[in-house]
Amino acid sequence: MRILFGVTGGIAAYKAVQAVRLLTQAGHDVHVVPTPNALRFVGQPTWEAISHNTVTTELFESVDEVRHVSLGAEADLVVVAPATADFIARAAAGQADDLLTASLLVTHAPVILAPAMHSQMWKHPATQANIATLKNRGVRILGPDVGALTGDDQGIGRLVDPEDIAQAVDQQLRPKDLVGRTVVVSAGGTRERVDPVRFLGNDSSGKQGIAIAEEALARGAEVIIVAGHLDVHPPRGAEVIKARYTESMRQAIVSLADEADVVIMAAAIADYRPAEPSRSKLKKATEGSELNLKLVANPDILAEISHQAGRDNLIVGFAAETAQGDELLELGRAKIAKKGCDLLVVNEVGEGKTFGFDDNTVAILDREGQIVTQTSGTKREVAEALLDQVVLSL
Ligand code: CTP
Repeated sequence: MRILFGVTGGIAAYKAVQAVRLLTQAGHDVHVVPTPNALRFVGQPTWEAISHNTVTTELFESVDEVRHVSLGAEADLVVVAPATADFIARAAAGQADDLLTASLLVTHAPVILAPAMHSQMWKHPATQANIATLKNRGVRILGPDVGALTGDDQGIGRLVDPEDIAQAVDQQLRPKDLVGRTVVVSAGGTRERVDPVRFLGNDSSGKQGIAIAEEALARGAEVIIVAGHLDVHPPRGAEVIKARYTESMRQAIVSLADEADVVIMAAAIADYRPAEPSRSKLKKATEGSELNLKLVANPDILAEISHQAGRDNLIVGFAAETAQGDELLELGRAKIAKKGCDLLVVNEVGEGKTFGFDDNTVAILDREGQIVTQTSGTKREVAEALLDQVVLSL
């Protein structure tokens, strides 16, 4: 996608460098248009190096190429980050006194603005009226966030994180085939208490579940993440319910499943928990002595919600197996039959595979144990393939 990335004159311009980097890494053709004031914060060579494109900023540069028309006209998407109060005012008024505002008047592409300014400027009725005008015109406003500002103070006005900007761009690209649907995704690994400072856990990073949540959000769903231990951040826009233990995850999932259109159980749930977790820290005995931990089996959440009488939600399970090839698929077929879910994502786990990694190779089985799709790629690509199947099955 060809992106016109406007940068205006605020200190948060340094964060926009990372956003441009994420967008070019995602394969987009990014054309940065800094305002002259933005160049006081981050210079032209940085923007050129990071975007791999030449950068123009003045209206009267390369006039023969009619840049003030071509940049906006050729863009598939316009992003402005940070958008200062002054820029927002000029954009709302329809001014065209620099290359960026001129481009905004020409473009037919969707526009995303990420404001950044001091809280007082953001809250001022003039800024709020300008924001309302832009929203009415169809401009998407991202943030601002609440947090530490440039001075010593705190408040609303921080530029959203670069990852949020990349996520918003990503959302523009996806089909909106989950609008009006509620998707519950369990992600990460559950832990079980051994004593007040120790737990039993597993290697799940939560990356696959979070990738599914991101993809569902991008496709327009309301997303609720029931999160065990995660090594990655949940995406902006999802509701997150923390569920550290299997029992808290069970309670959350069971109470959400009825109202959900789709439940995706990507979490790695502990099969066993200590029968009697110690109230005080277990003490070390002499070297070579044994400690026997008695474990008791946990409830199977996926089987419980899948066997719920009269359910009309779509339930997706995961099968993590250390087998390969036909044996892997046979284990998957036995698992979907036993669990009673509608789709099962079968993946191989083990040394160097799946848990904690960015890539995954999966087969998706239906209730009859037939392979409906097989895919290999990033966890996000696997999420896309899975949600394609979900949409077909709704
Ligand atoms: N699952 C669950 N509750 C459990 C254990 C697993 O809901 N107590 C869910 C997982 O979220 C996953 C699916 O069941 O969607 C399969 O998990 P997996 O670990 O592959 O299988 P298990 O049921 O634990 O069986 P086994 O360990 O014997 O392979």
